[in-house]
Amino acid sequence: MEDSNIAAAPPAMPPGLSTAKNHTYHNPHRFYSKSQNHQHGTNLSLNFIIIIIISIILIIAVFAIFLIIALLRRLKSVRKHGSCKESGILNNTSSRFIAHNSINLNSSPDVEARCLNGGSIERTPPSRYRGVQVFTYKELELATDNFSEANVMGSGGFGVVYKGTLADGTVAAIKRLQRDGKREEHAFRMEVDLLSRLNSPYLVELLGYCADQHHRLLIFEFMPNGTLHQHLHHPSSQYRPLDWGTRLRIALDCARALEFLHEHAVPTVIHRDFKCTNVLLDQNLRAKVSDFGLAKMVSDKTNGQISTRVLGTTGYLAPEYASTGKLTTKSDVYSYGVVLLQLLTGRVPVDIKRPPGEHVLVSWALPRLTNRDKVAQMVDPAIQGQYSKKDLIQVAAIAAMCVQPEADYRPLMVDVVQSMIPLVKNCNSINSPGSSRVYRQTSTPKY
Ligand SMILES: Nc1ncnc2c1ncn2[C@@H]1O[C@H](COP(=O)(O)OP(=O)(O)O)[C@@H](O)[C@H]1O
Ligand SMILES: [Mg+2]
Repeated sequence: MEDSNIAAAPPAMPPGLSTAKNHTYHNPHRFYSKSQNHQHGTNLSLNFIIIIIISIILIIAVFAIFLIIALLRRLKSVRKHGSCKESGILNNTSSRFIAHNSINLNSSPDVEARCLNGGSIERTPPSRYRGVQVFTYKELELATDNFSEANVMGSGGFGVVYKGTLADGTVAAIKRLQRDGKREEHAFRMEVDLLSRLNSPYLVELLGYCADQHHRLLIFEFMPNGTLHQHLHHPSSQYRPLDWGTRLRIALDCARALEFLHEHAVPTVIHRDFKCTNVLLDQNLRAKVSDFGLAKMVSDKTNGQISTRVLGTTGYLAPEYASTGKLTTKSDVYSYGVVLLQLLTGRVPVDIKRPPGEHVLVSWALPRLTNRDKVAQMVDPAIQGQYSKKDLIQVAAIAAMCVQPEADYRPLMVDVVQSMIPLVKNCNSINSPGSSRVYRQTSTPKY
């Protein structure tokens, strides 16, 4: 009732005091005492202070929100692009770097080394990954006793390989590229690029590299039992002839290495120089594949096929690749077939000292491989009597399929692996304790 009265007859107020007007609006009394006026003033200043405090709090809150958003954005962009500066810090504190990613083929590795963590980091590092270290030339001089003759382990198309001991005590194989041509530089980069991202127990591990001024060196894990070639073709007191079971297991290790390159590497890798000298053996005579200098990556766009210059080693080249330069994973399958024939026969791929018709291993072996009687006659005399005829025929059949002239009819490496597994298992069970058959190298670990 009172309210309606007030609304009907608002009190006369001093002009400009609208707040007082509001105040009066809710006041049931129509007259103001002195103390009421005083309280009114206090309320006014209290309200004013509260408004200021709320405003300050709001401003701080808005500022904090902006700050958090800016920080989050920055964090996101650092995660996305990686930070070259961070590698730079790594660079300042140590002469060594860890290459988690591929080396950019367009920039010199020694420049790239300054920012190895930069650029694309989409490829997640493999689990067992230890990283590829960058060495100075001086460090490698120290490791090899100034590249002394006594440390030479062998030499190949790209240079001399030395045995060396790194500063942390690791024994390594150090390959020094001798010529500094375009091809050698490309091979060097390809090897660093591929091996720093590929990780398989069937590939020889790249421990590091050196691109100090004009020097180009590759540092590999040391394989104490040398190459398969040395064991098969130059047996000595150091390298005894390999028994049947060991040969089968080496064949399976190699098949797994190529299967990894063809089926699991992204993009697919064609080794292009698979041969006995690029199969290295560890202390247990387990095989690992090496030498990726000639390797090619195949993208899906090219339909798994590339036309390229014919490089590789005579006797191992698939006929279609040798004649037209058409390279596919089936070219590696052919080379694998040749190595399998070497394991089976103990012969080298090309031997002009042999009688006419026997110079080229594949041509001589192919018609015999599918003949049950003839296949036994072609086996390496060093392993005579160590195998069952059934297993021999199966291995011969795999080899025959791999070296077929028609690339499309050659099997995939994944199929070769599946065919080899039961043969190796079978051989292991024959060699196990309690078996009546005892081979010369029975100390090899179980597959
Ligand atoms: N990682 C390694 N561990 C032990 N010895 C190696 C290693 N790499 C290469 N070698 C030795 O060095 C020799 C030369 O190797 P390389 O330069 O790859 O040429 P190729 O493959 O033509 O033999 C090999 O035959 C082998 O005896
Ligand atoms: Mg080699």
